[in-house]
Amino acid sequence: MDTINIAIDGPAGAGKSTIARLAAERLGYIYVDTGAMYRAMALLCIRNHVAAGEEEKVVGVCERAEVDIEYVGGEQHVLLNGENVNAYIRTEEVSRMTSAISVYPKVREKLLTLQRNIAENNNVIMDGRDIGTNVLPNARIKIYLTASVETRAKRRYKEQIEKGQEAAIKDIEKDIEERDYRDMHRDCAPLRVADGAKVIDSSNLSIEEVVKLITDMVK
Ligand code: DC
Repeated sequence: MDTINIAIDGPAGAGKSTIARLAAERLGYIYVDTGAMYRAMALLCIRNHVAAGEEEKVVGVCERAEVDIEYVGGEQHVLLNGENVNAYIRTEEVSRMTSAISVYPKVREKLLTLQRNIAENNNVIMDGRDIGTNVLPNARIKIYLTASVETRAKRRYKEQIEKGQEAAIKDIEKDIEERDYRDMHRDCAPLRVADGAKVIDSSNLSIEEVVKLITDMVK
């Protein structure tokens, strides 16, 4: 089947998931959140009391895991060994663990196959860190969505306060900077602007403006 693929990469908190979800809804495509798949693996490591630095153990746990996704009412559910883990993968602990274990090539290999299979069989908007560079290098449209560290930290702060969680803006900024550094400097599939990607800085754009920029590119 000839499918249309849109790849969106960018650092944490740039608005990728919100924008990709809305754009997918308008275009009638499937939204694939690859970060959620890495997060499920990280959750499993935490549950198994494996530290991020123990590469062999991390790889062992991840290789035995079964990760899959399903869609319920348009929403992506990540299934970890058959369990829907959406409710457990958005904590700060899981975020840190995910960034740390996603540096391991064997962890990435496993998810790469799953991601490519989905894109082969569906029109997708897929977001992550290495989609345009590595997972779908032939995607019809490639976007690199970014925003300043301050903007991204403010957005995350607001989200956490709304969820009733405690948050300190300086800690969030430090966390974002550390994650950016790790995601951009790892050896395997680091975050960078893919060849042919359009760079969009969302610092001063509304969600609607960015969604329109992307959906207009498909026409
Ligand atoms: O998009 P996110 O914040 O849910 O991603 C969490 C972490 O997963 C991120 O810090 C790096 C990793 N990740 C990755 O390495 N490759 C992807 N395609 C998606 C996410």
